[in-house]
Amino acid sequence: MKILVVGSGGREHAIAWRLAQDAEGHELYCAPGNAGTAAVAANLPLKADDTAGIVAWAKAERPDLVVVGPEAPLVAGLVDALSAAGIAAFGPVAAGARIEGSKRFAKEVMDAAGVPTGKAETFTDAAKAKAALPSFGLPVVIKADGLAAGKGVVVAETLAQAEQAIDDMLVGNRFGAAGAEVLVEEFLHGEECSILAVVDGERAVLLPSSQDHKRVFDGDKGPNTGGMGAYSPAPVVTDAMLPEIRDRIILPVLRELKRRGIVYRGVLYAGLMVNNANSNPRGPLAKSGSEVNVVEFNARFGDPETEAVLPRLGGSFAQLLLNAASGSLSEADLVVKDDVAATVIVASGGYPGDYEKGKEISGLAAAEPGAIVFHCGTKEADGKTLTSGGRVLSVTGLGATLREAVDRAYARIAGISFDKMFFRRDIAHRAFERESARQ
Ligand code: AMP
Ligand code: GLY
Repeated sequence: MKILVVGSGGREHAIAWRLAQDAEGHELYCAPGNAGTAAVAANLPLKADDTAGIVAWAKAERPDLVVVGPEAPLVAGLVDALSAAGIAAFGPVAAGARIEGSKRFAKEVMDAAGVPTGKAETFTDAAKAKAALPSFGLPVVIKADGLAAGKGVVVAETLAQAEQAIDDMLVGNRFGAAGAEVLVEEFLHGEECSILAVVDGERAVLLPSSQDHKRVFDGDKGPNTGGMGAYSPAPVVTDAMLPEIRDRIILPVLRELKRRGIVYRGVLYAGLMVNNANSNPRGPLAKSGSEVNVVEFNARFGDPETEAVLPRLGGSFAQLLLNAASGSLSEADLVVKDDVAATVIVASGGYPGDYEKGKEISGLAAAEPGAIVFHCGTKEADGKTLTSGGRVLSVTGLGATLREAVDRAYARIAGISFDKMFFRRDIAHRAFERESARQ
């Protein structure tokens, strides 16, 4: 197949890399890609948000499939435009991507579909939002309605913090239009995990579970990031839970969207809070009474979850994505290997705040069995590979056990260096703590 992958991060490198593993062989392109995707695909000088440019390329080149990685082009309607041009595209239409683009919309859909989630109310008026706080207890979660680059969520431990967050968003205009509406949400106790469901509008195939590490420093300290590492599977989700997650969460959302005239195809990423005998920590149940609650939906593959999950997939990845894009998905499209995966993000000093770019990266050419280096923020210049983002590399180790997978990822990282590089040294710690607690 001739396939275009849109985006330039670790997720898109993992998608292109996994497509390149398919036995049938593909002609692969990335728009714009990065120094890593250049090894498996032809990079095109088209930015991910250049809808007109990407559609013009697709009309001229007639790819069999376009896979859209990031949320911004989805929300901007890239899939709508490609579909109008008769090009098969993997990803939801703009009306579907609102499930990520508007947290209020996501709550409305969940409430209508009877999907368990934290109780929430939406406000545009700061005084009314503050007046509602006592009924939510503490901690309480304050969220900007729109896309705020992962920074629009404040888990407030005190009333003063909650009031400050409300003022920042509604009065101080901290997130602009994205924060013009604010959700006050019940705090959910438990352990988070990510479920990536590949969906075709009606049917859903759940990829293996994974768990992200959102905080920047070891021990889950410091500010939130886009994600500092991931591993798959996440033991907090047992295999027995997957059909229930599909039937109680993913499929009801697809049906509710369809009822609203939206055929949702692509990835429906459910960020879940699990609070059961297996979770760490546990806490009081949410008002929904369910042990599994939705924290958020995303309209795309997660990053870095994708770098941990995709290397575990067998079979034809292109066929899985094409079947989802064309409405003919089946369980038989999913093949999961026995390998366990762990992914460690290598970042540039200062991330998630300010960081420098243009540092030369050394050690990329070396090879380590069972390890893959995905590029997140890199570019090629004068034969050198330079950093071009805060998250620079995403290193995945594969093994028969989680320990083996983690060790392989860190062994590979040991051979890589650039000025001010850093990474978390405790990826998968929750899974290891669970194991040692059982011994
Ligand atoms: P979101 O952007 O909605 O995924 O929120 C970012 C992070 O904030 C989540 O990954 C959780 O760690 C945390 N969070 C969001 N909503 C809640 C909630 N209702 N209860 C507890 N933690 C939450
Ligand atoms: N790793 C979290 C996300 O992709 O949203």
